[in-house]
Amino acid sequence: MAELKRGAIFISGWGSNLQVFLDQKDQFKSLLVVSSSQKAFGLKRAKDHNVDTLVLGSPIDWQGLTEALISKEIDFIFCAGFMKIIPASFLNQWENPIYNLHPSLLPKYKGLKAIERAYEENDDIGVSIHTLVAEVDSGQVVLQDKVLEKDSYSEKSVDEVRELIQQKEHQMVSLWIEKYLPNRLNHS
Ligand code: GAR
Repeated sequence: MAELKRGAIFISGWGSNLQVFLDQKDQFKSLLVVSSSQKAFGLKRAKDHNVDTLVLGSPIDWQGLTEALISKEIDFIFCAGFMKIIPASFLNQWENPIYNLHPSLLPKYKGLKAIERAYEENDDIGVSIHTLVAEVDSGQVVLQDKVLEKDSYSEKSVDEVRELIQQKEHQMVSLWIEKYLPNRLNHS
């Protein structure tokens, strides 16, 4: 069996995808929740699971964050609704890729309001997990799944579509933890 990992989950808000990690806490050696906002509900989720948290200042001290993560011997970083752009200088310091969850079928609809833009265009709607590179939402896609076929959901509201996306995201994060995480990370 693969050795358990220490993970840092980056969030900015609600944290429903963070919850997937928290519900499987015993799959990890430790978890640390890093939030770009003091007000993120995900911080409460972390505290309810006795998981350590770190709230970033503004502007973000990326070098200070690197040092904090190294001191905690973090093996992997997963961005689950982290809405800040991560600079290349931070990304390049890690041996393992940093992963990001995005609510579209990349390479389509990079960036903000991805669900709304795909919905407006009646386009295929889905979810991707990809590695982070300096250019926004442009790394290698490692998991991807379609949720709705284009032109098939005109009777659904954007909120209903968002809910379906969220369900798929939670399944995909779980799949990543089960299938992807243990096999693709180097031991540090
Ligand atoms: C998720 O839909 C995630 O795909 C999206 O933020 C949401 C966070 O939800 N991320 C991005 O748009 C990144 N570009 P959550 O806080 O409930 O996990």
